[in-house]
Amino acid sequence: MTCPITTDVDRAAAILRNGGLVAFGTETVYGLGANVFDVRAVARVFEAKGRPTFDPLIVHLAEPADIMRVAAAFPPTARQLTERFWPGPLTLILPKLDTVPDLVTAGLHTVAVRVPNHRMARQLISLAGVPIAAPSANPFGEVSPTTADHVVQQLGDRIDCLLDGGPSRVGLESTVLDVSGEHPVLLRPGGVTQEEIESVVGRVERGTTPSGADEHGTPQRAPGLLSRHYAPRTRLAIQVEAARPSNPHTGLLLFRPDDRWEGYSVVEVLSEGGDLREAAANFYAAVRRLDACRLEQIVAVPFPEVGLGRALNDRLRRAATASGTRL
Ligand code: TXA
Ligand code: MG
Repeated sequence: MTCPITTDVDRAAAILRNGGLVAFGTETVYGLGANVFDVRAVARVFEAKGRPTFDPLIVHLAEPADIMRVAAAFPPTARQLTERFWPGPLTLILPKLDTVPDLVTAGLHTVAVRVPNHRMARQLISLAGVPIAAPSANPFGEVSPTTADHVVQQLGDRIDCLLDGGPSRVGLESTVLDVSGEHPVLLRPGGVTQEEIESVVGRVERGTTPSGADEHGTPQRAPGLLSRHYAPRTRLAIQVEAARPSNPHTGLLLFRPDDRWEGYSVVEVLSEGGDLREAAANFYAAVRRLDACRLEQIVAVPFPEVGLGRALNDRLRRAATASGTRL
């Protein structure tokens, strides 16, 4: 049985307050939300996604001022960044309060927080009256949802309610930036670009997201495991030049129109005008359409390695790794 789909924010908030799971639209991708302080509800999020509990969740707030409900400190760098980019697609890693359950943070001493730039999402969180833990609303490792329809297809029978917030405007997950240490570390490229962040805080280092913690709260890394992400079922290969395919049942994913289309059975062009924002907004839906074509393989051409192109290349690389091919 599939879940009720609604635009009634009051109804969805009541379900969250009662320990239910509500998928909701944000500007990045759809999230699968639960009351952050309700461990049973949070456990159901991991179960519904088939997500390993060593992968921590992002806590969503209605207002920047709510940060102190989950974070133990708010350093000046974090303050500067929230003033500039919140509400928006930037997640900050901060020292956590003890009241945030370990299940949410995978035992880490830090918590990931963001304020989404989406009116309905913020209303939902505000009416729920508690911060909302929410990973992307897709089964673990699969393509992220950018419409309510995508969520129904992937998780419709495992959630209590779906709040339809329309198509996600940004279309790629938030940027994850660790500001809990001395220097900011970029853990996941996303909707706010590295260049935009550096214009506020200076150069940032690149790091990788953790996969849980040992009993001392020290991140444990499981190489390769969490890189298997954002993946279609069809094999995806990245090719700098889209050469004519040997097998005609091949799809092509292009950033902008290009004349090297010959021999492909389906072609998806992400932006006619070569605009990275437009390409990001169309990306996951295009990957899904290609995945539905029963192709032998999908070939993707890399994006320019600037701005949102970095985040897009990151998602392509992970999708290719998952299907056994590499950049
Ligand atoms: O745009 C987004 O961020 C979406 C929407 C729903 O807000 N959410 C999302 O959540 O992408 P998820 O669970 O798919 O990705 C969360 C990322 C993971 O890579 C996780 O490892 C990282 O955030 N993360 C969460 N807590 C962390 C922490 N304490 N330290 C470092 N990384 C953390
Ligand atoms: Mg995800």
